[in-house]
Amino acid sequence: MRELLDAAAGHAAAYLESLPERRVGAPRGVEDTKAALGAELPGGPVDPRRVLDELVAEADPGITAMGSPRYFGFVIGGAYPAAIAADWMASAWDQNSGLASPTPSVAAIEEITGAWLLDLLGLPAGASFALVTGCQMAHVTALAAARHRLLAGAGWDVEAAGLAGAPALRALVCAERHVTVDRALRLLGLGTACIEAVEADERGAMRADALEAALASADGPTLVVAQAGNVNTGAVDPLAEVCRLGHAAGAWVHVDGAFGLWANASPARRGLLGGCEQADSWATDGHKWLNVPYDCGIAVVADPSAHCAAMSVQASYLQQGAGLREPMDWTPEFSRRARSLPVYATLRSLGRTGVAELVDRLCECAERFAAELGRRPGVEVLAQGLNQVLVRPEGDVDAIVRAIQDEGTCWVSATTWRGTRCIRISVCNWRTTFEDVDRSVAAMTEQFERVPA
Ligand SMILES: Cc1ncc(COP(=O)(O)O)c(C=O)c1O
Repeated sequence: MRELLDAAAGHAAAYLESLPERRVGAPRGVEDTKAALGAELPGGPVDPRRVLDELVAEADPGITAMGSPRYFGFVIGGAYPAAIAADWMASAWDQNSGLASPTPSVAAIEEITGAWLLDLLGLPAGASFALVTGCQMAHVTALAAARHRLLAGAGWDVEAAGLAGAPALRALVCAERHVTVDRALRLLGLGTACIEAVEADERGAMRADALEAALASADGPTLVVAQAGNVNTGAVDPLAEVCRLGHAAGAWVHVDGAFGLWANASPARRGLLGGCEQADSWATDGHKWLNVPYDCGIAVVADPSAHCAAMSVQASYLQQGAGLREPMDWTPEFSRRARSLPVYATLRSLGRTGVAELVDRLCECAERFAAELGRRPGVEVLAQGLNQVLVRPEGDVDAIVRAIQDEGTCWVSATTWRGTRCIRISVCNWRTTFEDVDRSVAAMTEQFERVPA
């Protein structure tokens, strides 16, 4: 056992040490990797050390350096050393974290972690929280609480009666929402037909006047989904206004803050999210800006009774009811790993100032990208907010993006913003510095000049 785990630690450390200079894109694709690894199911046991060594050797060429300081695709954070180490302990201890009394330390760490998160993110201290797989399931969890409360207000017990014959629920959601909001509404049986898109401004933030008009014509149980951090532009909805208008109309206000909610951890940027704490629920991620390994989403609900009513389960064989906070009362999962451990370790190792520094540095890196690329001839900066940047070089954007990815210094992706194909840069890795930005700008500029229009 020790020899195997030492070997795994060696492979992991070698990979992590290689990240600053490793080519970012993966040279080997899916089919070649399947050919290398996917022979017949073994008829019998294979020595675990051989399994490990061959797995690492054959998987390595198909591993994209998502933890690289110059990986700027999607919104993918890296993993802090403290987080990786604690995550290993979560696997080694292999605690089922659904119940409190069978695993006292994990239950205690989860409670501490939850309180720290609420404090750091500026959310109400009395709110309930759940650690789930990602922001997608954080939406499902928080919106299940919303569904409970809104339909109970209309005299409908959705947990008992289901949705057939239930009062119709309207969801007023920004036209520029993230797709996971739609999927959460699908999974909750509300369907995307309940969505009424509220117009966005030119930055992709919800327009308060459009919300006001939509609310004026709304009738019955109403959900408003706001956003702190547009996935393309980083724009934040006018949250104070959205909460004020939503609450005046009796609506539940949910905030998608997958990455943007972390701006609240920075004294310098907290003002961008003013009023956020007045919402009814929030969804965010640990595996993006906080840089803990996948999978870690966080759901927070201001009204713990609605949250618990939507999620809680009881069975006589479970050890429940000892007056403890039972983790499975707040999550859609029954059994699960100790997700709190890497979050706890990261928050403890960074502290309040360390998280603020991380948030500020990554925003400053995004600002530097916009400033430096904007100086290049023919390059237009379409948007920059928080840690996100959209730029449009002259020429075939998809070909340029492919060339940048193939060259390997950095990794960016393409998106379409307001009908314009452009390059999307998301700065989300704890290792990224101004030097990485400058190296990436140089590598990108080379491709702008090299790729034929
Ligand atoms: C604004 C926003 N909401 C939700 C999500 C979904 O998060 P996850 O992939 O953790 O489910 C993302 C992912 O990028 C996002 O940017």
